Amino acid sequence: MGAFFTWFSAFLLALVLVVLHRLLIKPYRLIQFYKRQKLPVFVKSLKGFIDYQWGLVTTHDDFYYFQKQLIKQNRSERAFVTNIGPKPTVYLIEPTLIKEFLMDKHDCFEKAPLIGLLKRFGDRGLFMLEGQEWKQRRKIISEAFRYDLLREMVSHVVKVTEERFQKFSLAAKNKEELNIIKEFEFMAGEVVGRFFLGKSFTDINVDGTQITAWISNLFVQVIYESVSLWTLTFGPSFVAKGILPHHKELVSNVRRGKAITREFINQRREALLKDSTTDKEQKDLLTILLAQQAENQLTTEDIIDEYLTFLIAGMDTSARLETLALYFISQNPQCLPRLKEEISKAFEDPSQVTLEKLNQMEYFTSFLKETLRMAPPSPHITFRTAIKDVMLKDIMIKKGTWTTVCK
Ligand code: HEM
Repeated sequence: MGAFFTWFSAFLLALVLVVLHRLLIKPYRLIQFYKRQKLPVFVKSLKGFIDYQWGLVTTHDDFYYFQKQLIKQNRSERAFVTNIGPKPTVYLIEPTLIKEFLMDKHDCFEKAPLIGLLKRFGDRGLFMLEGQEWKQRRKIISEAFRYDLLREMVSHVVKVTEERFQKFSLAAKNKEELNIIKEFEFMAGEVVGRFFLGKSFTDINVDGTQITAWISNLFVQVIYESVSLWTLTFGPSFVAKGILPHHKELVSNVRRGKAITREFINQRREALLKDSTTDKEQKDLLTILLAQQAENQLTTEDIIDEYLTFLIAGMDTSARLETLALYFISQNPQCLPRLKEEISKAFEDPSQVTLEKLNQMEYFTSFLKETLRMAPPSPHITFRTAIKDVMLKDIMIKKGTWTTVCK
């Protein structure tokens, strides 16, 4: 019994030391390392980070508010350092540093940290792939971004918008409030769904929630969990084991999301096998991917993950851009007459919305670009981890440091 307690105490002590090392000692040493290189450093305590970050989601509906403020305040710096919980993160600003990071030294970094948990969500999608696999997938997917196919997509966008705007008119008539970002998310999810699957899936519900909203909520939960103390201390694989009840629920929902997507894919595959002319004529991304699958280039898991990648990558970003554009219009009413004039000139007949006409809308495009500059939906690119010590010009990035590019 005595021996057991000795071993147990030793195990507990080792565990405490590992946790202390990961949460405090290692981050502290890295932060000191960057301070010695005279980079501006903005550290939030661990508890401060978790309280503050989650508080921001409630107060600003923006997980990245703190980082966005730092980026704004440090535009004149070459780079700065802050922390995502116990992970010191270098934000690169100067173009020459960015060029080295993304081009000349890109193989010294790998996509990882925050997306570690997301990998459990779908690690075979473009977002997560690296190197040669990423190149091959980009090549396959670029097929769906051909100009003629994108041109066809415009009619889907118009249709989805018209359908949803009818709901807006009704709400306005009944003086009902709408959560506009959720509405735009729904529309973007629907457009991505039609682009990918070639058909509407608005009518599909999971537990009484419309499918895109359900996947979007699930994604938010995954993001929350990816910066929880559990994940940051023990890693994403601990969460994926589903030992704690809320981890178990998360893992089970991720499986459900994938199972629903698998069902869509199987339905389409069967339709294609039946040689239906309608399906053969469809040139959505799923049809393109299924053709590649027939040539053994892709597995069904790859396609499921690709669909989830597109849905997640396209929904929140587009919805934020649209919502913020509306906000900036409301704050700058002097821009409205010119915007209106350009729209009515280009679309005398609203049923004739085309890609060519959209591309001619210079003022409108500038307005959207300025919105992205002022309030980017995603303030930086995916974090990459240095897989070894690496020099970016005169700045040494230590192995294990998260690194990104500010926008
Ligand atoms: C305002 C809208 C958008 C913004 C601000 C945005 C932003 C981003 C950012 C920052 C990345 C990460 C790049 C990196 O770390 O390498 C990314 C990647 C990606 N986005 Fe978007 N995005 C937007 C819209 C969309 C839409 C509508 C879709 C899908 C229809 C989409 C699909 C993707 C995909 C598939 C990737 C991975 C690309 C790759 O690794 O090659 N995005 N996006």
